[in-house]
Amino acid sequence: MDGKMRETILEGRELVKTFGDTRVLQGINLKLYADDFTVIMGSSGSGKSTLLSLLGGMDRPSGGQLFYHGNVDMACATEKELTDLRAGAFGFVFQRTYLVSSLTLAENIRMAGLIGSSLPEEKIAEKTEELIRRMRLEKAKDRLPAQVSGGEAQRAAVARAVITKPTILFADEPTGALNKANSKEVLNLLSALHTEGQTILMVTHDREAALRGNRILYLEDGVIVGEMEIGPYQGKDSQREQKLAVWLEEMEW
Ligand SMILES: Nc1ncnc2c1ncn2[C@@H]1O[C@H](COP(=O)(O)OP(=O)(O)OP(=O)(O)O)[C@@H](O)[C@H]1O
Ligand SMILES: [Mg+2]
Repeated sequence: MDGKMRETILEGRELVKTFGDTRVLQGINLKLYADDFTVIMGSSGSGKSTLLSLLGGMDRPSGGQLFYHGNVDMACATEKELTDLRAGAFGFVFQRTYLVSSLTLAENIRMAGLIGSSLPEEKIAEKTEELIRRMRLEKAKDRLPAQVSGGEAQRAAVARAVITKPTILFADEPTGALNKANSKEVLNLLSALHTEGQTILMVTHDREAALRGNRILYLEDGVIVGEMEIGPYQGKDSQREQKLAVWLEEMEW
């Protein structure tokens, strides 16, 4: 950390999640800061997706508190408050895209803008066009999700997630189903968004993906066991790669 005051967007205190009698998250304390690209790593089953779904308001903790901008406790917010947060303040990208199958890529993006923002329709249409250019979806935009490639679908999913200018973009293994080239393209988009000030929280198994973050958390058995500041991504950097490799070894990844 550089000693500057960082704005906290989300703060979890002693977050617990149980499914039946299994405690999947065991009292997590964490803060997510504005402008950070935070990455969560950890072995399969360690609770990464569960944590992301709590932080993103898709599920509620079984115990603890979760503050959005220091005041809204998402642990006891109403269903409507959570729905509004998800649609307006948060954006989501998953391993599988969950685009609406009966809408074209362009319609999927525009629809998210209409639902999640209060901008007039023509502004949304403009932003949709801008994102389509930016995500290089000009050729695929009028096709249905089933008629496009995995990379195109995922780029559309990123566009859909950011059209509302979310305070946090949540991504759970966004490159997990992509080949190397498509994966790189999606990561480049995320890096570009981060450079422009987009706050991101990403879960990943992939070192290349993790290197895009500036802060990395390590989860093991529902506990955060490690944290590292690695500085912002600025292209390929063997020193950063080395630093991550050493740290992951310490974490017994
Ligand atoms: N709805 C549920 N009901 C019961 N158990 C669940 C549920 N969701 C997750 N779990 C369990 O909680 C644990 C953590 O799951 P989670 O999906 O958070 O892991 P993860 O770290 O994201 O793993 P992966 O890397 O494989 O995606 C796992 O043991 C999983 O089986
Ligand atoms: Mg997962």
